[in-house]
Amino acid sequence: MAMDLDVALERLTEFEIYRNKFAEAFPEDENPINADNLAYSIAAFERTLNTPNSPFDRYLSGDENAISEQAKDGMVAFVDNGCIACHRGPALTDSQFHAIQVPGSKDLGRYTVTGEESDKYRFRTPTLRNVAVTYPYMNNGATETLEEAVAVMGKEMLGREFEEQTINDITAFLNTLTGEMPEFEIPALP
Ligand code: HEC
Repeated sequence: MAMDLDVALERLTEFEIYRNKFAEAFPEDENPINADNLAYSIAAFERTLNTPNSPFDRYLSGDENAISEQAKDGMVAFVDNGCIACHRGPALTDSQFHAIQVPGSKDLGRYTVTGEESDKYRFRTPTLRNVAVTYPYMNNGATETLEEAVAVMGKEMLGREFEEQTINDITAFLNTLTGEMPEFEIPALP
Protein backbone atom coordinates (compact mmCIF):
# COMPACT_ATOMS: atom_id res chain seq x y z
CA MET A 1 0.00 0.00 0.00
CA ALA A 2 2.95 2.30 -0.83
CA MET A 3 4.10 2.07 2.80
CA ASP A 4 7.84 1.65 3.36
CA LEU A 5 8.45 -2.01 4.25
CA ASP A 6 10.57 -1.26 7.33
CA VAL A 7 7.93 1.14 8.61
CA ALA A 8 5.25 -1.50 8.01
CA LEU A 9 7.25 -4.08 10.00
CA GLU A 10 7.77 -1.61 12.83
CA ARG A 11 4.07 -0.81 12.83
CA LEU A 12 3.16 -4.52 12.99
CA THR A 13 5.50 -5.01 15.94
CA GLU A 14 3.38 -2.52 17.90
CA PHE A 15 0.41 -4.91 17.90
CA GLU A 16 0.45 -7.48 20.68
CA ILE A 17 -1.85 -9.72 18.62
CA TYR A 18 0.62 -9.73 15.69
CA ARG A 19 3.63 -10.33 17.99
CA ASN A 20 1.83 -13.39 19.38
CA LYS A 21 0.50 -14.67 16.08
CA PHE A 22 3.83 -14.31 14.25
CA ALA A 23 5.63 -16.06 17.11
CA GLU A 24 3.07 -18.87 16.90
CA ALA A 25 3.31 -19.18 13.11
CA PHE A 26 7.13 -18.98 12.90
CA PRO A 27 8.38 -20.57 16.16
CA GLU A 28 11.91 -21.10 14.77
CA ASP A 29 12.55 -17.40 14.14
CA GLU A 30 14.07 -15.14 16.73
CA ASN A 31 12.46 -12.13 15.02
CA PRO A 32 9.30 -13.59 13.53
CA ILE A 33 8.00 -10.22 12.27
CA ASN A 34 10.31 -9.86 9.26
CA ALA A 35 9.85 -9.16 5.55
CA ASP A 36 9.83 -12.82 4.40
CA ASN A 37 7.35 -13.90 7.06
CA LEU A 38 5.13 -10.94 6.27
CA ALA A 39 5.06 -12.04 2.61
CA TYR A 40 4.26 -15.65 3.62
CA SER A 41 1.49 -14.42 5.93
CA ILE A 42 -0.15 -12.17 3.37
CA ALA A 43 0.03 -14.93 0.75
CA ALA A 44 -1.50 -17.44 3.20
CA PHE A 45 -4.26 -14.94 4.00
CA GLU A 46 -4.96 -14.29 0.33
CA ARG A 47 -5.34 -18.03 -0.26
CA THR A 48 -8.32 -17.96 2.11
CA LEU A 49 -10.10 -15.29 0.06
CA ASN A 50 -12.30 -17.72 -1.82
CA THR A 51 -15.92 -16.98 -2.58
CA PRO A 52 -17.47 -20.43 -3.03
CA ASN A 53 -21.00 -21.60 -3.60
CA SER A 54 -22.21 -19.00 -6.10
CA PRO A 55 -25.51 -19.88 -7.81
CA PHE A 56 -23.50 -20.86 -10.91
CA ASP A 57 -21.28 -23.20 -8.84
CA ARG A 58 -24.41 -24.82 -7.43
CA TYR A 59 -25.79 -25.15 -10.97
CA LEU A 60 -22.55 -26.80 -12.11
CA SER A 61 -22.74 -29.27 -9.26
CA GLY A 62 -26.18 -30.41 -10.38
CA ASP A 63 -28.79 -28.02 -8.94
CA GLU A 64 -30.58 -27.11 -12.15
CA ASN A 65 -32.81 -24.59 -10.39
CA ALA A 66 -29.91 -22.63 -8.89
CA ILE A 67 -29.98 -20.14 -11.79
CA SER A 68 -32.88 -18.63 -13.75
CA GLU A 69 -33.90 -19.52 -17.30
CA GLN A 70 -32.65 -16.10 -18.40
CA ALA A 71 -29.25 -16.79 -16.84
CA LYS A 72 -29.13 -20.10 -18.72
CA ASP A 73 -29.86 -18.25 -21.99
CA GLY A 74 -27.09 -15.83 -21.00
CA MET A 75 -24.68 -18.69 -20.38
CA VAL A 76 -25.41 -20.03 -23.89
CA ALA A 77 -24.93 -16.54 -25.39
CA PHE A 78 -21.67 -16.20 -23.41
CA VAL A 79 -20.35 -19.42 -24.97
CA ASP A 80 -21.82 -18.99 -28.48
CA ASN A 81 -20.57 -15.42 -28.86
CA GLY A 82 -17.01 -16.35 -27.89
CA CYS A 83 -16.66 -14.63 -24.49
CA ILE A 84 -15.38 -18.00 -23.36
CA ALA A 85 -12.30 -17.67 -25.60
CA CYS A 86 -10.81 -15.41 -22.91
CA HIS A 87 -13.10 -15.78 -19.88
CA ARG A 88 -12.79 -19.50 -19.24
CA GLY A 89 -11.85 -22.01 -16.55
CA PRO A 90 -12.69 -21.90 -12.85
CA ALA A 91 -11.97 -18.17 -12.51
CA LEU A 92 -13.37 -17.29 -15.95
CA THR A 93 -10.04 -15.95 -17.18
CA ASP A 94 -7.31 -17.27 -19.48
CA SER A 95 -4.78 -15.22 -17.44
CA GLN A 96 -3.47 -13.79 -20.73
CA PHE A 97 -3.04 -10.21 -21.94
CA HIS A 98 -5.22 -8.88 -24.76
CA ALA A 99 -5.19 -5.60 -26.61
CA ILE A 100 -8.20 -3.44 -25.87
CA GLN A 101 -8.81 0.28 -25.90
CA VAL A 102 -11.90 0.87 -23.83
CA PRO A 103 -13.67 4.19 -24.30
CA GLY A 104 -11.82 7.03 -22.57
CA SER A 105 -8.72 5.06 -21.51
CA LYS A 106 -5.22 6.38 -22.26
CA ASP A 107 -3.51 3.62 -20.26
CA LEU A 108 -0.77 1.88 -22.28
CA GLY A 109 -1.36 -1.35 -20.37
CA ARG A 110 1.35 -4.02 -20.16
CA TYR A 111 3.67 -1.84 -22.29
CA THR A 112 4.21 0.31 -19.18
CA VAL A 113 5.92 -2.68 -17.55
CA THR A 114 7.69 -4.41 -20.48
CA GLY A 115 8.40 -1.51 -22.88
CA GLU A 116 7.57 -3.95 -25.74
CA GLU A 117 5.74 -2.29 -28.62
CA SER A 118 3.49 -5.37 -29.00
CA ASP A 119 2.31 -4.99 -25.40
CA LYS A 120 0.73 -1.58 -26.00
CA TYR A 121 -2.86 -1.45 -24.71
CA ARG A 122 -2.74 -5.08 -23.60
CA PHE A 123 -4.50 -5.91 -20.32
CA ARG A 124 -4.88 -9.16 -18.45
CA THR A 125 -8.29 -10.79 -18.71
CA PRO A 126 -9.92 -10.23 -15.32
CA THR A 127 -11.81 -12.93 -13.47
CA LEU A 128 -15.58 -12.60 -13.76
CA ARG A 129 -16.24 -14.14 -10.36
CA ASN A 130 -18.16 -11.63 -8.20
CA VAL A 131 -18.13 -9.21 -11.15
CA ALA A 132 -21.65 -8.01 -10.26
CA VAL A 133 -20.33 -6.51 -7.00
CA THR A 134 -17.01 -5.12 -8.26
CA TYR A 135 -18.13 -2.16 -10.35
CA PRO A 136 -17.01 0.12 -11.94
CA TYR A 137 -15.44 -1.83 -14.80
CA MET A 138 -12.43 -1.90 -17.17
CA ASN A 139 -8.93 -0.62 -16.56
CA ASN A 140 -10.07 3.00 -16.21
CA GLY A 141 -13.20 2.26 -14.19
CA ALA A 142 -15.26 4.38 -16.58
CA THR A 143 -17.84 1.68 -17.32
CA GLU A 144 -20.44 1.86 -14.61
CA THR A 145 -22.86 -0.96 -15.18
CA LEU A 146 -22.53 -4.61 -16.07
CA GLU A 147 -24.86 -4.11 -19.06
CA GLU A 148 -22.52 -1.43 -20.41
CA ALA A 149 -19.49 -3.68 -19.80
CA VAL A 150 -21.12 -6.51 -21.77
CA ALA A 151 -21.88 -4.11 -24.64
CA VAL A 152 -18.29 -2.77 -24.61
CA MET A 153 -16.87 -6.32 -24.65
CA GLY A 154 -19.14 -7.31 -27.55
CA LYS A 155 -18.02 -4.28 -29.54
CA GLU A 156 -14.29 -4.15 -28.69
CA MET A 157 -13.44 -7.83 -28.41
CA LEU A 158 -15.89 -9.49 -30.78
CA GLY A 159 -16.92 -6.71 -33.19
CA ARG A 160 -20.61 -7.25 -32.36
CA GLU A 161 -23.48 -4.95 -31.53
CA PHE A 162 -25.60 -6.99 -29.13
CA GLU A 163 -29.39 -6.74 -29.01
CA GLU A 164 -30.72 -5.50 -25.67
CA GLN A 165 -32.08 -9.00 -25.00
CA THR A 166 -28.63 -10.59 -25.38
CA ILE A 167 -27.07 -7.96 -23.12
CA ASN A 168 -29.70 -8.60 -20.44
CA ASP A 169 -29.33 -12.38 -20.72
CA ILE A 170 -25.52 -12.28 -20.43
CA THR A 171 -25.84 -9.85 -17.51
CA ALA A 172 -28.24 -12.27 -15.79
CA PHE A 173 -25.61 -15.00 -16.24
CA LEU A 174 -22.82 -12.78 -14.82
CA ASN A 175 -25.04 -12.11 -11.80
CA THR A 176 -24.94 -15.83 -10.95
CA LEU A 177 -21.16 -15.64 -10.36
CA THR A 178 -21.44 -13.90 -6.98
CA GLY A 179 -20.25 -16.25 -4.21
CA GLU A 180 -20.18 -16.21 -0.43
CA MET A 181 -17.76 -13.63 0.95
CA PRO A 182 -15.16 -14.73 3.53
CA GLU A 183 -15.56 -13.38 7.05
CA PHE A 184 -12.71 -12.06 9.15
CA GLU A 185 -12.09 -9.67 12.01
CA ILE A 186 -9.75 -6.72 11.72
CA PRO A 187 -7.77 -6.10 14.94
CA ALA A 188 -8.28 -2.67 16.53
CA LEU A 189 -5.34 -0.25 16.34
CA PRO A 190 -3.32 -0.14 19.55
C1 HEC B 1 -10.11 -11.44 -26.56
C2 HEC B 1 -10.37 -11.69 -25.13
C3 HEC B 1 -11.72 -11.32 -24.56
C4 HEC B 1 -12.98 -11.65 -25.02
C5 HEC B 1 -13.34 -12.43 -26.29
C6 HEC B 1 -13.91 -11.10 -24.07
N1 HEC B 1 -13.27 -10.48 -23.05
FE1 HEC B 1 -14.10 -9.57 -21.44
N2 HEC B 1 -12.31 -8.80 -20.92
C7 HEC B 1 -11.10 -9.09 -21.56
C8 HEC B 1 -10.08 -8.18 -21.05
C9 HEC B 1 -8.61 -8.15 -21.47
C10 HEC B 1 -10.72 -7.33 -20.12
C11 HEC B 1 -10.09 -6.20 -19.32
C12 HEC B 1 -10.34 -4.89 -20.05
C13 HEC B 1 -9.85 -3.68 -19.29
O1 HEC B 1 -9.43 -3.80 -18.14
O2 HEC B 1 -9.89 -2.59 -19.85
C14 HEC B 1 -12.11 -7.79 -20.04
C15 HEC B 1 -13.07 -7.23 -19.19
C16 HEC B 1 -14.37 -7.71 -19.06
C17 HEC B 1 -15.33 -7.24 -18.09
C18 HEC B 1 -15.07 -6.19 -17.03
C19 HEC B 1 -14.50 -6.86 -15.80
C20 HEC B 1 -13.99 -5.88 -14.78
O3 HEC B 1 -13.88 -6.30 -13.61
O4 HEC B 1 -13.69 -4.73 -15.09
C21 HEC B 1 -16.50 -7.94 -18.30
C22 HEC B 1 -17.80 -7.82 -17.51
C23 HEC B 1 -16.27 -8.81 -19.42
N3 HEC B 1 -14.96 -8.65 -19.85
C24 HEC B 1 -17.23 -9.64 -19.98
C25 HEC B 1 -17.08 -10.20 -21.24
C26 HEC B 1 -18.17 -10.74 -22.02
C27 HEC B 1 -19.62 -10.81 -21.56
C28 HEC B 1 -17.65 -11.13 -23.21
C29 HEC B 1 -18.38 -11.68 -24.41
C30 HEC B 1 -19.41 -10.80 -24.94
C31 HEC B 1 -16.21 -10.88 -23.16
N4 HEC B 1 -15.92 -10.30 -21.96
C32 HEC B 1 -15.30 -11.19 -24.19
C33 HEC B 1 -10.90 -10.06 -22.52
C34 HEC B 1 -11.91 -10.59 -23.31
